[in-house]
Amino acid sequence: MASLQGRDFLKLLDFSAQDINHMLDLAAAFKAMKHRGVPHRLLEGRNIVLLFEKTSTRTRCSFEVAGYDLGMGVTFLDPASSQVSKKESIADSARVLSRFYDGIEYRGFGQAIVEELAEYADCPVWNGLTDEWHPTQMIADMLTLREAFGDDLRGRKLVFMGDARNNVANSLMVVCAKLGLDYTACGPQQNQPEEWLVERCRELARESGSAICVTDSVEEGCAGADVLYTDVWVSMGEPDEVWEQRIGALSPYQVNDAAFALAEPDAIFLHCLPAYHDVKTKVGQDIFERFGLTQMEVTDAVFESPRSRVFDEAENRMHAIKAIMYATLSDAPLPSQV
Ligand code: CP
Ligand code: NVA
Repeated sequence: MASLQGRDFLKLLDFSAQDINHMLDLAAAFKAMKHRGVPHRLLEGRNIVLLFEKTSTRTRCSFEVAGYDLGMGVTFLDPASSQVSKKESIADSARVLSRFYDGIEYRGFGQAIVEELAEYADCPVWNGLTDEWHPTQMIADMLTLREAFGDDLRGRKLVFMGDARNNVANSLMVVCAKLGLDYTACGPQQNQPEEWLVERCRELARESGSAICVTDSVEEGCAGADVLYTDVWVSMGEPDEVWEQRIGALSPYQVNDAAFALAEPDAIFLHCLPAYHDVKTKVGQDIFERFGLTQMEVTDAVFESPRSRVFDEAENRMHAIKAIMYATLSDAPLPSQV
């Protein structure tokens, strides 16, 4: 396999199945080391910077903890505390930050921004979520599926329910097509993935031997599913006004017991989180007051059920991000004693 050292990690369309499986192997190895308490400060002396233009719990904490575990220095910058974008262009910021840092993480809006950052930076740039893609999430999700079903995921069926054209859904369709999982985007027409991406993924699926399906039928979508996956109905950066329309359009695609009744008996539930499964959040409370809903994209019963692997999935974000950083910063194999 070609080394990934020096590569940017911007979207999974840029990586082969072999590359993705390599990062999954590394993530599993790092997870085992972490759980056994084996130190792995393999990137001592390096430094990384994390740029966040949108909020985050998992992604930020994963980059920070993974960076510290690998022995690196970590700087966090939010939009209020740096010049990036407001007083200094992305191209200039990239050239400045590359003089200080060995890697740059960016979470923000259009994919074009992180692509420009990568073009001007002379160190690896990692996409921590854009409007279009969420690639680090995919390594964690596939690691979680390996833990549930074994390392060879080919032939498993993953169904994304709801806003099937958002960053997470787009990324899932690509990773499934690359790794040979059957993927179904299940949502109303206006929330289905863009045609060019469906076509591209169908080409990839032909190579990996899987199938890409797009449907507005819950019965068709969930039949025989091994994994039901959903995400929020309104993503970061979208206007508050879209809630009403989304609730109307996406409520039939809620992941609930009826959807699981159509799936395989041992099917599991995944969600990138955060999830609106109750009213214990400000947004959840606000939606309850405005629309009377107490749960949205997933019922509390499914979220809290043994089918739900969402907290393993969240933990795996950190192991996955450690693997992505390690693969792109070093081509040394992991020492066998660690
Ligand atoms: N899943 C995910 O990216 O979570 P955060 O928004 O908390 O980083
Ligand atoms: N689609 C969601 C994912 C959050 C991790 C968003 O962009 O807000």
